[in-house]
Amino acid sequence: MTKSSQNKPLAIINNLNVSFRNGDLKNQVLFDVNLELLENEILAVVGESGSGKSVTSKALMGLLPVKNAIIDATELSILDNDLQIFNGKDWSRFRGSVISMIFQEPMSSLNPTITCGYQVAEILETHTKLSNKEIKTEVLRLFKKVKLPIPEQTFNKYPHEISGGQMQRVMIAMAIACKPKILIADEPTTALDVTVQKEIILLLKELQAEYGMSVLFISHDLGLVHEIADRIAVMYKGRIVEMGTPDQLFENAQETYTKALIAARPDTESRLKRLPTINDFMTNAVPSEVVADEERAKAHGVLYIKSLY
Ligand SMILES: Nc1ncnc2c1ncn2[C@@H]1O[C@H](COP(=O)(O)OP(=O)(O)O)[C@@H](O)[C@H]1O
Ligand SMILES: [Mg+2]
Repeated sequence: MTKSSQNKPLAIINNLNVSFRNGDLKNQVLFDVNLELLENEILAVVGESGSGKSVTSKALMGLLPVKNAIIDATELSILDNDLQIFNGKDWSRFRGSVISMIFQEPMSSLNPTITCGYQVAEILETHTKLSNKEIKTEVLRLFKKVKLPIPEQTFNKYPHEISGGQMQRVMIAMAIACKPKILIADEPTTALDVTVQKEIILLLKELQAEYGMSVLFISHDLGLVHEIADRIAVMYKGRIVEMGTPDQLFENAQETYTKALIAARPDTESRLKRLPTINDFMTNAVPSEVVADEERAKAHGVLYIKSLY
């Protein structure tokens, strides 16, 4: 996985500090975040809920609320464009074509009153000069690319008529429609069940390789990103605490927090009475009491009897 070390940075975040204003109070949530997204790589940002992952990615997309977010950075740029001086027009030119995003909840990003095919067609209408017929052909090609079943049928379906995994595929088709240089995927599989989750991340990996785009993949799941990331940044309480290739992190984590993240993955061999939290690992208070087989059998017995009534 040395490919990324030779590649140039597409997006640069240097000493990014973000605070939110709440009346007279100021709550700082990012502290001197440094991150470079290189050409043709999947960079994962991992950390527990509230650690600042989404705020970091929103800063790169110009999506932080103007009314209460205070953003300060030595550099915040994409392809040498200074994002701190971008106006609304600059952003609409940029979003979709240079940088695009998929979110955790496809249902909240898709328009429920528009068919799946037309949602993608609309983007091509805005950003390209293709004719209506060419647009339809391109949408069907994209639907095949993201492996939607029977693209012609999905084209005319409304979002509520397809499954969550299929909605996420429509979102991915929308996101890659204009061949962006950067794709930000913010917990794109968290709402999906495990098998679908795996299919979607493998699809993203495949598309990344084919299009040569750079992907910023945000997740709270270190095990999941380990499979697809070239590099992983670990975020904790608004700071990047560790950065490296998946193997470097798994084999030689330096930071207590990274070690805790690795250790907190559930064990498949034994079953603990109480599952450990990241905080348990940080404070050296990991529960070790295991549920014995007889106890489990007894508990199951009680459950099964209950379910009979
Ligand atoms: N619009 C906002 N206004 C005020 N606080 C916010 C806003 N968005 C995020 N925050 C706060 O910033 C911190 C980081 O949030 P976020 O980046 O969403 O975390 P996550 O790592 O789960 O994506 C949290 O404490 C959150 O409450
Ligand atoms: Mg988030």
